[in-house]
Amino acid sequence: MKKKISDLIKKKNKQKIVSLTAYSKNVASILDNHCDIILVGDSLGSVLYNYKSTREVTLNTMIEHSKSVRMGIKKSLMVVDMPHNTYRNPKEAVKNAKQIMKITKCDGVKLEGGKKIYETIKALVKNKIPVMGHLGLLPQSDKTFKFKGKKKLERNNIMRDSKLLEKAGVFSIVLECVETSLAKLVTQNLKIPTIGIGASKYCDGQILVFDDLIGLNPMNYKFVKKYANIRNDISKAVSNYSKEVRKIKFPNKKNSFN
Ligand code: KIV
Repeated sequence: MKKKISDLIKKKNKQKIVSLTAYSKNVASILDNHCDIILVGDSLGSVLYNYKSTREVTLNTMIEHSKSVRMGIKKSLMVVDMPHNTYRNPKEAVKNAKQIMKITKCDGVKLEGGKKIYETIKALVKNKIPVMGHLGLLPQSDKTFKFKGKKKLERNNIMRDSKLLEKAGVFSIVLECVETSLAKLVTQNLKIPTIGIGASKYCDGQILVFDDLIGLNPMNYKFVKKYANIRNDISKAVSNYSKEVRKIKFPNKKNSFN
């Protein structure tokens, strides 16, 4: 059965929320059996395109990947990241979010930021566009990628922003790289669920970038646990294929047309 945003909110304090990123149909169709939310994250800019930052990702790229992901999802909620410079004011955000929703048939959009985008989120919600917030480390605007919540001002801002986002009507908030006690406090102070990435077990749910979880990305990050080493499996398969091609063992009769 197709999951609903209301089901997600009901999970708070009862059941943990499972979420992963997907950028294509085949991956999405595997994740769909296990996830509550599948996010088409603008992390695809660095993961797939090797961009220096997610700021280079365009609306068109997000829409094309989301169309592919849509084909793989039957049950999970699908959320699409609004890329940098597509929500600079409420009018621009509503226009672009409507386009994303219409073309990709996703269940909601995700925007990075707090106080600065309060009016924008209110406008989206008013236009019946479900919104997921994103606080803590903000890859679209942060200059350095350090965890958040060490300094008092940072902690106060994240607490304030989480309450503001809830007031503006978001259905959930991603907390990225947030210090444990702050993530716990934010989660306890909200009625909507928090989804953590590098933000401790106290969040209502967790999200990871799929390529990190399966070990396709060779990088190691503190907040990631690699549940597979898919690079090894791919390497073995390709090595076997290359040996068989060179020894004229592949294709054999079974793989040929007579
Ligand atoms: O772009 C992305 O994949 C994200 C997740 C890391 C939450 O925003």
